[in-house]
Amino acid sequence: MILLDGKKTSFEIKEEIAEEVTKLIARGGKKPHLAAVLVGNNGASITYVNAKVKDCEEVGFDSSLIKLSETISEKELLEEVEKLNSDDAIDGFIVQLPLPKHIDEQKVIMAIDPTKDVDGFHPQNLGKMALNLPTFLPATPMGIMDLLDRYNIETGGKHCVVVGRSHIVGLPASILMGRNSYPGNATVTLTHSRTSNLKEILQTADIIIAALGKPDFITADMVKDGVVIIDVGTTRVVDKSKKSGYKLKGDVDFAGVSKKASYITPVPGGVGPMTRVSLLKNTLITARTK
Ligand code: GUN
Repeated sequence: MILLDGKKTSFEIKEEIAEEVTKLIARGGKKPHLAAVLVGNNGASITYVNAKVKDCEEVGFDSSLIKLSETISEKELLEEVEKLNSDDAIDGFIVQLPLPKHIDEQKVIMAIDPTKDVDGFHPQNLGKMALNLPTFLPATPMGIMDLLDRYNIETGGKHCVVVGRSHIVGLPASILMGRNSYPGNATVTLTHSRTSNLKEILQTADIIIAALGKPDFITADMVKDGVVIIDVGTTRVVDKSKKSGYKLKGDVDFAGVSKKASYITPVPGGVGPMTRVSLLKNTLITARTK
């Protein structure tokens, strides 16, 4: 079994990005500038956004964090998005999800200028992705593709089973794995909460991308020998021994499944760091095109 080390791989990619920034500035360009909008007090969102800002500093980007109250109206948030759209100092920005219930997430995503949508969530960018046109790929699926690529994992002709159809991970990951490119060219099955024979399907998978958010859901009896496991789950479960009071749990029972897998991502330290670095890659693209 080989561990797909997202921490180490993301570190290597960050070094490459930092070199690119140095070259960009030497050519008279400006530092890429990423802005992140955080609405409310969701613990996981605060952690993610702070990590994204720290990543920017590490590679030599400028960053702005816009913290907004949980009670902000949809109209006010749309105005903030509009401000960022028209601010030439900002190359790209994200609105951290989830948003409070009273705000229509899709409406907010649709309001983002597609040329600044470094999350790749705007329908225009998702459409381009599906057609294999150059665009911003959503960060988590892009991080998964980079991990498969950096470890030279064969995907062509393989059966890839994606578990979960979220717009952020499962759906785009299924499209990318089926595209006529590398990584891709897999035969993809997209499974979800209404799939009736999930265990039988998983048992035929060469590659499993698990993104359903249920700790230890996929167990050793559900997978075949040699399977490649990409575990996107990061559920917080109580752990009094940790300073934070919780630990992160993947969707895959690592202890059991790792005995059968050829490659497997750990949680934490697998997909998570790759997601963060993908956002930096997209931001570098926006800065280069200006
Ligand atoms: N919430 C969970 N993942 C993401 C992400 O990749 N981008 C944004 N904006 N919100 C998220």
